[in-house]
Amino acid sequence: MRHPNLFVASYEAQSLIGVCWGSLRGNEVILHGIAVREEQWRMGIGSQLLRRFEREARKAGARRISLGAPLGEVEAFYVKNGYKPCLLRVRVERERLPLDYREKDHAIVDERSYQNTKVLYVKTIDDHVQQAEELTRTFGAGDVICIFEKYVGHAQGLLQLQPTEQPGSVLRYPSISL
Ligand SMILES: CC(C)(COP(=O)(O)OP(=O)(O)OC[C@H]1O[C@@H](n2cnc3c(N)ncnc32)[C@H](O)[C@@H]1OP(=O)(O)O)[C@@H](O)C(=O)NCCC(=O)NCCS
Repeated sequence: MRHPNLFVASYEAQSLIGVCWGSLRGNEVILHGIAVREEQWRMGIGSQLLRRFEREARKAGARRISLGAPLGEVEAFYVKNGYKPCLLRVRVERERLPLDYREKDHAIVDERSYQNTKVLYVKTIDDHVQQAEELTRTFGAGDVICIFEKYVGHAQGLLQLQPTEQPGSVLRYPSISL
């Protein structure tokens, strides 16, 4: 994890029951993690923490919060709290990538190369779960992470945003660490 500089925590009778942390980079906050004590799940504590985190992010000057989460249960939590999927981050073995993978209709907006793997950033379409399944089938993708975003600042309308701050803009994600 890279240097989080934004923390919020929940306490009950002086005992820690939840934490949420992230990093402020320019006018974006990357949420690195959130966790609530298991015995107290589904009591609204996570949502409360997130709201507090968003308030602090806004106070610190953030306009957008983004985060990466595996597809599945935790996704429902973010969706319920107003986060929208914008990208899929797909890790693929280099040798399984067909030569023409860029030409296929997968809306790949960015990619990173590592020793034996490539990480593709794919713009989400309506049914991102089905999209993730298709990517896994096509590329034998090892893991798929969904990147969510929420605008929290004052300049919410696209017209007020800089080009690189449009939803789904991959230029804003270089620092996500999962
Ligand atoms: C994710 C987590 C922080 C949620 O905390 P929480 O206090 O249980 O969340 P809330 O009670 O505020 O949940 C709000 C809504 O999110 C959704 N939700 C939360 N957990 C869910 C689950 N396991 N399955 C489906 N929906 C879920 C529900 O819609 C819920 O509303 P409801 O209970 O009225 O149906 C908690 O489950 C956790 O600590 N998990 C382990 C760590 C983790 O996975 N962190 C995320 C890393 S990306």
